[in-house]
Amino acid sequence: MKKITKAVFPVGGMGTRFLPATKSIPKELLPIIDKPLIQYAVEEAIDAGIETLIFITSASKHAISDHFDPMPDLRAKFMAQNKSHLVDKLDTLPLEIQRVFIPQGAPLGLGHAVLQAEAMIGADEMFAVILADDFIQAEVNPLKRLVAVAEMKQSATISVEAVSDDRISSYGVIQPSEWQGDFTQVTDIIEKPDAHAAPSNYGVIGRYVLPQSVFAVLRQTKMDKNSEYQLTDALNELMRSSGLQAVKLAGQRFDCGSQSGFVMANLHVAMQNAGLKAQVLAYLSSCK
Ligand code: UTP
Repeated sequence: MKKITKAVFPVGGMGTRFLPATKSIPKELLPIIDKPLIQYAVEEAIDAGIETLIFITSASKHAISDHFDPMPDLRAKFMAQNKSHLVDKLDTLPLEIQRVFIPQGAPLGLGHAVLQAEAMIGADEMFAVILADDFIQAEVNPLKRLVAVAEMKQSATISVEAVSDDRISSYGVIQPSEWQGDFTQVTDIIEKPDAHAAPSNYGVIGRYVLPQSVFAVLRQTKMDKNSEYQLTDALNELMRSSGLQAVKLAGQRFDCGSQSGFVMANLHVAMQNAGLKAQVLAYLSSCK
């Protein structure tokens, strides 16, 4: 089995919860203070050994490609002005990292988005999938840990997080077998169960390592009642045919696809910034 060096970033969703901001930019470009969600996700991927970034985009949005392009004119200007701190901020992607943009065509769900990467993945290759709107702050790079377990078990591997009862019905929820430290074999995934019917409190979150065989499964997947192809259906099929591992997230995750998660992520990062913390706390304590 080859090393895992490719990551798919599905950024073709409609982001309706962030309209009108998402009319012309994907929600993955919304910033946490000054850095877009997608850049955090790309940095996590590169740190985990990824060399090729595959963005599955919606056709009308070129802003992600623009974000990662070099800007030689502005760079030269900042250099001439001795503003090296600004030059560093322009370097959003090392030139040796390959980037590929594939239009999704229509927003037919996450499963459909991942399927668009098929031509980029070799026969015996595993690859990562990162949902940038799942913003994660962790001591240990979550994708690096996922890749390590996937390579050790030679198996599809997903990331899960302990979720409270009142939120569990929004997640795909796993039935774990025996935990071996932070990972376990998955024996079932139930999509959006009622709290009393959930097989555990571990919800599937936006980091995956998948084998090339997932594409054949995705091609057979049926549309759901919302006319979307779900990745969860394919994960269940992979679990039955070749096994599925889950790794517990060690870190804090913010669902930046929701407005509350996005605001909290910004506050969390502000609290780590000495220049912002005192002002933000003073403001918050004045709020009723
Ligand atoms: P969401 O379920 O959050 O959907 O997608 P969405 O369309 O982006 O947002 P809302 O619900 O309308 O506000 C989860 C992830 O899957 C990607 C999204 O970009 C996001 O990273 N996605 C979703 C696609 O790439 N294509 C799709 O057709 C659907």
